[in-house]
Amino acid sequence: MIGVFDSGFGGLTVHRALIGALPERDFVYLGDNRNAPYGSRPPIDVLNLTCAALERLFAEGCTLGVVACNTASTVALRWIQQQWLPVRRRDDGVVRNVIGIVVPTIEAATGIKQSGTIAVFATRRTVESDCYPIEIRKRRPDITVVQQACPELAGSIERGLPRRDLHALVDRYVSELLRKLAAAPECVILGCTHYPLVADLFAAALPSGVPTIHQPDATARALKAYLDRHPEYDGSHAGRRKFLSTGFSPEALPLIEKFWGDEVPFVQA
Ligand code: DGL
Repeated sequence: MIGVFDSGFGGLTVHRALIGALPERDFVYLGDNRNAPYGSRPPIDVLNLTCAALERLFAEGCTLGVVACNTASTVALRWIQQQWLPVRRRDDGVVRNVIGIVVPTIEAATGIKQSGTIAVFATRRTVESDCYPIEIRKRRPDITVVQQACPELAGSIERGLPRRDLHALVDRYVSELLRKLAAAPECVILGCTHYPLVADLFAAALPSGVPTIHQPDATARALKAYLDRHPEYDGSHAGRRKFLSTGFSPEALPLIEKFWGDEVPFVQA
């Protein structure tokens, strides 16, 4: 069983791609809606909430967790992989692992560019973590990374702001980023679960021809490759799906449909 975790419903953009790539696998999705958004929370909260969510997914029988949330991946995942998981493994003797969304995104971004600048748009907390610049520099010190926090964007998408208002917001963030650069970036990372919904607005605001990494597809490719290399997480192949939310309410149905493209049978976690 594979567990997919996000702060809320935005991770459904990633989850959909994972299911598309691995339709035969069993998946549990957990959205921590009661505590969302994570993007403006203190890092210690993000860390504790992410551990609690992973515990919940393990209790569901998951041996592999995918953190689909950029904020949780950038703030908490390294510590979870290096400090928390080894203790969990030692205590209960079960082989489990957790992977995130940052490395697949970086691999896709550095794969298409030779040198120059990668631009990252993300939540405030993701930008402050410096995770994207640090991880990109480890692989490719010749690449410059310029980040732009978009503190209002995920919330505005969730609240269903009209497209023209989202357009104005994206234009503003793109202009702020471009002001920091002498030339157009060579590649753009939309580092938030919600931004695929406004990818067209980013494309329109950016100089033409700048490629944008599609995080859901990059993560799906990475998960497939990971499972090929790690048959120990093979698990069940009945195509079962379960959708859990810590704060489900029927008012969220239009938002869920926006991220998933259809109704999703969420139950309270
Ligand atoms: N899922 C979060 C992310 O990808 C966005 C929403 C939030 O701030 O919780 O960063």
